Formats: sequence, structure tokens, C-alpha cells
Amino acid sequence: MDFNEAAGTNPIDQTRVVGHAHDRVDGPLKVSGRATYAYEFHNEAPDAAYGYMLGAGIGKGRIEALDTAAAEAAPGVLLVLTHRNAPEQGKKGKGSARAQMASAEVRNFDDPVAFVVAESFEQAREAAHMIRVRYVTEPGRFDLVAERGNAKKPEPKGSTLADTAVGDFEAGFAAAPVQLDVTYTTPDQSHAMIEPHATLAIWHCDRLTVYTSNQMPNWAQHGLASILQMEPTDVRVISRYIGGGFGSKLFVYGDIIITAMAARKLQRPVKMALTRPQIFNHTSHRPATIQRLRIGATPDGAITAIGHEVWCGNQEGGTFETAANQTRLLYAGKHRMTSHRLAVLDLPVGNAMRAPGEAVGLMALECAVDELAERLRMDPIELRVMNDTQFDPETGPERPFSSRKFVECLRTGADRFGWAKRNPKPGQMRDGHWLIGIGVAGAIRENLTMKSAARVTLDPQGQVIVESSMTDIGTGTYTVHAQIAAEMMGVPMERVIVHMGDTDMPEAAGSGGSWGANSSGSGVYAACDKLRRVLAQKAGFNADDVVFAGGKLSQGNRSVTLESLADPQGLSVEAEIDFGDLTKRYAQASFGAHFCEVGVDLATAEVRVRRLMSVAAAGRILNPKTARSQCIGGMTMGIGAALMEQCVVDTRHGYFVNHDLAEYHVPVHADIPDMDVIFLEELDDKSSPLKAKGIGELGICGVGAAVANAVYNACGVRIRDYPLTLDKILPHLPPMV
Ligand code: MOS
Repeated sequence: MDFNEAAGTNPIDQTRVVGHAHDRVDGPLKVSGRATYAYEFHNEAPDAAYGYMLGAGIGKGRIEALDTAAAEAAPGVLLVLTHRNAPEQGKKGKGSARAQMASAEVRNFDDPVAFVVAESFEQAREAAHMIRVRYVTEPGRFDLVAERGNAKKPEPKGSTLADTAVGDFEAGFAAAPVQLDVTYTTPDQSHAMIEPHATLAIWHCDRLTVYTSNQMPNWAQHGLASILQMEPTDVRVISRYIGGGFGSKLFVYGDIIITAMAARKLQRPVKMALTRPQIFNHTSHRPATIQRLRIGATPDGAITAIGHEVWCGNQEGGTFETAANQTRLLYAGKHRMTSHRLAVLDLPVGNAMRAPGEAVGLMALECAVDELAERLRMDPIELRVMNDTQFDPETGPERPFSSRKFVECLRTGADRFGWAKRNPKPGQMRDGHWLIGIGVAGAIRENLTMKSAARVTLDPQGQVIVESSMTDIGTGTYTVHAQIAAEMMGVPMERVIVHMGDTDMPEAAGSGGSWGANSSGSGVYAACDKLRRVLAQKAGFNADDVVFAGGKLSQGNRSVTLESLADPQGLSVEAEIDFGDLTKRYAQASFGAHFCEVGVDLATAEVRVRRLMSVAAAGRILNPKTARSQCIGGMTMGIGAALMEQCVVDTRHGYFVNHDLAEYHVPVHADIPDMDVIFLEELDDKSSPLKAKGIGELGICGVGAAVANAVYNACGVRIRDYPLTLDKILPHLPPMV
């Protein structure tokens, strides 16, 4: 099915099942421990051997000498794989896959040096620590601030250009009566999901099956195939349940590639999980950014010039953090400029994490807008409303937004949160020893769509079985697929069975970039639409005015049950949704506004978030319960980014010092107040037949700035260097009275 024109009225609009809050269909399996995660497929491979990865202890250089004799002789050891005996590999593949242990070169800290396979996990770990490695270290580039001057204009990242320019920014800014020129920094951050990267690899002759934890099974399939120099059709990737990914599992790392190589060598299934410290340095992270914002405005608050420059770092060939993305779309302004510069760093590979681009870009932009509002003595909401645009400000009115309720989000939130009670002058509100402040920030996240297929089968019992390689990373996709199929086929949700996370099933969008439910759900829609036509024809009905309801199809006063039309072996159809150029003709994004109240302790500068409310407009909300859960997850991450999350770089040795969850701080329950999420009514007929847009990542976008703006309002201290830890605030606090 091609999606080239705005969707008309379709069966999803009935909203008998879609659009309602449903518990997760996989919930009981998860809370009872019966949902099988990557490391837990014991029945599929009762004889699996255990692997343990030894990572490099230097940031850059090479292995000079490697003594594996003791490890090889240790009890239970079956194999010690190193660069000396690793098979020949392809260099690079889809999903950022790259060869592992292919040479003596150490590309970054915790680059694999050896992989020990043994009868038990403990034996493998013990033997791995008997391996003696001598390195030659080479000087590495580990410091973004020092390398900023060497940063270069990178190649486009997909369709995202490094630079954009409209009008004459420099002249426009110089001529602006009010000018703001501020620089913010955000640190390296780690995904910190609960389930580690883990893989079980099983070979059946020359066909490989990996049970792994991966958001994009088809990328993993193709990436693995190119590294192992196989046909993709000989690689099957299964990823049924995922204990969080946040971008770290979009891609392929050592666990997938090395277990596959070891299992092939041993002719025996092998499994391994990365340790928590290895996750920080061996897999990816969100790269640090330096962001300069310049905004010129008239005294009454109209933006005339807006410029956003971003510097970040990555390994040779790595991509850039698209932190200026939102500045291309969010506000009007005649003279515009955005740029990204990329420095080569020898730190671990940086990649997508939790709304890459906007999540950290808005932490700068939405603070800068707050600073501009103060400079103008204007309400920050009024300033945002005044500079709203209903079309892409880089291209003009010929490219309108498909839907945009940014102003409505701001207004609704202001009303519900009690914005009118805020004192714009900082440091005026007290509650005992707490200084109280309120802040706001806008949110935008680009709406992405990906072609996606599904197979739908009607079985002789009248059950509807939905299959695709889509994943559920804890976001609710199993449930949303069940809702869509139930809506389309006119059956209760209990009669729908959803399978996903298997590359032997039709190729679906996967979970990333908030495209998951909207894209893969549209694939389910397309397959159900096809099944409806097949059934209508079988029943002798005219396909266009058949009603599917109550487990029957009816036309006029004649009706037949679904099961009476199924073949004994079931009736199966497959279809794909293919998105055309509607994202080129229309700017597509989800919008929101976050309202935050903080307390700043007068004595210690400890910041506590007391209230957080998000208003979101993201097209049709397919399931308000799972959507709300995603938003509060994102909001929690936004608080983390504002107040605590930071990978501390050892700029001498090139690694992240705080590489576990004891020292890399993420918010815990005690850090998080009751949070409110409000969804505005919206249908976006240019986004998909579901009329939905991406929601998952919108929750984090802008939250960091809302917290920082609230901190400023509380105590008058503006910190432009995230996270806002108390040591940065304390020296600037007003004297305690
Ligand atoms: Mo997301 S960072 O595309 O998992």
C-alpha cells in the first residue's frame, strides 16, 4: 500500500479499540517472568556454552603481546578467541556493525581483545582474567574542548544536512536591536537501559540464528551478514522482548558478532551478555555537544535572526549529533543559520540515544529563548507564541506543517499548571529553606516514517494472528498491533495474537526515532485492509461497504462469521506500507510543552523537581496508557539530563570513568514527583493512515530546559553547562536569610 495522499476516513476512525487505554497484552508475561529475553532461551539451546568478553584497557593503540596459555588451560575452557584466530570478516555493515578482533589495533577502550568460551559463565570469566595483554599506547584525542578547533563540516547524516542558511544571518543578527549570544554544553551520556546487550548464537549447518536484544532486527541481520560474509537470508535475528534500548540497541556490537563467530568455530551454541561497565565503553553513547545560540529580536519580541552552531566529536567515520535540527523548524525568523561541526575523537563510538538531536538541542535552544524573554522583559510563553510558524521557516509557506499545535500545548499547559502564579523575577518564592521556581520549555520532535510490512492470518477458530519483525522495547507495540488488528477486523483484542521480533517474519520498521508504532502499525493496517478485501470477495460482498464488527462481516441484512471464511490451514495475507513524499511536501513533527516547578535548597543548592507537566500534540494517540508511560519515561530521562547524567571523560586515557549505575546517575523514584501528561486531540492525515505521529521521544525533548529555566526562576542562577549539579549552583546562591 502506498501512502502518497492524505488519509481519508478509514476503519481506524471508528476508534472502538484504537485510541483507548488498554493494558499491555504482554504485561502478565513480563510480571510473571515468562517473557523470554535474549539470555534466557534455555530450551532452544540447553547445551549453550558461556562466553565472556575481555575488553581493551587502553583508549588507543595496539596489542603488542597476548598470553592466553593460562586461560586456554583453565578448567572448562573451550575456546579463546583473539585477533590471532578470529575468522576473516567484512569491514562494515548495516546497523553500524564493524569487524571485531580483526587486528591488533585498539580502536577505543573496551574494544574486544579476547573472548573466552567455557562450560560455565564463572569459568569463562575466571579464564578471561588470566589473559595477559601488553599494549603499545598511542596518543588519542579524547577532549572535545581541545579538539573543537579541528572540527570539520561532516557529510550529511541521512537526509540531515550539516548546515542550513536562509537570508543573511550575520547581517541580520548585527542589525537586531536586541541580541543574545550564549553557549551551552551538554556532556557525553549513556543509555543506561536495564537489560544488558546479550546474545545467544546457534548454527544449524550454515544458517545462523541469534537471539539478541536489538531494536532493529533487520539492520542487525544485514549488519551481521556483511561482517560474517554471509547471505542475509542465512541469518535469522530474534528479538522478542527488549528490556529497554534507548538507541543503544539500534546497532550491532561485539556480543552479536563475537558469539556468532565463536559458536561457528565450536559448532555449539554460545551465549554472552556484556557486563554493565562494558556497555558504557564498548557500545555507544550520546556524544557531548558545545552549542552556540545567537538570537536577534525586535524590542517587542519578533525574532529577526536565529543561529545555532553545534560542535561534537566522534570516531573517524562517525556521525554527528544533530542538535541544531529543531532550530530549523521551531520558530519564525527571516535570517537563519544552523551548522554542525564534527571533531575526530578516539573515545568510544557515539551514536543515537533517546531522541538524538532534539533532546540536547532543545536543552540549549529553549534555555536561550528563556534568556531572551528575560532580556525583553517578556513572558516566555508569549515570546514563543509570537514567533510561532505554521510552515517550515527555512522553505516558506509552500511547505506547511502537516499539523502543529505548539501554541495550544503552551496555552493548555499554562492554564493547567498555574503559570499565572509564577513571579518572573527570580528568587521571590520560598517554601521553608527551599527557593521555588517555575519554568517552561517547548518541545518538538521530527516525525519519521519507515516502510513496514506485516502478515495477518485468519485461523479457522476466528483468531487473527499478526506477524512482523517489529520490536517492542517496552513501549507497548504488541498492544498497539493488537488494537489495530482488532479495530480493522472487528474482533475483540482477545482474539488477536501478535508475534514480532523475528526476521523470518515480514520486514517491519523496528523501534527507533519514534517511528515504531506509527510505521509498523500502518503495516498492520495495510495487511488487514488486504485481508478485509479478500474476505469480502470470498463472502460475495462488495468490498467497499462491508462492515466488520462482532467477529462478522455484514452487508445489508446478510452477515457471515470470520471463521467460516478461513481455510482449514488459515487464510494469510501480507502487505507493506510504503511512505511516499508527504514528509517532503509537509513538515512533520510532534509538538509539546513542559512545565516544571523546582525547589533549590538555600543551604546546599540541591535541586528537587516538585512538579512536572507535559502537554503533547502527536496526532492520534493510539493507546493513551502506553503513550503516557512513554512520556513519563522520557520526562524522567529529561530530569536526568538536566540534573545528573554525565559520563565523565578521562581525557588522558580516553574512557568513561563512571561506567556503572552506581556512578552514572539516573533518576530514581525518590527523584521523581507525580507527573502529569496531557494529550491534545489531533489527527494528522498526512503522517499515516493511522493519523498518528511519533510520541515516544517527544517526552524527553525540552524537559532539560524546562528544569533549567525553573532553577533560574528559583534562584537566579543560570548554568549553561549541563548537568546542573549542586556544585555549579552553590557558589552563586544568594546569601541565606
Ligand atoms: Mo532511538 S535513540 O532512535 O532508539
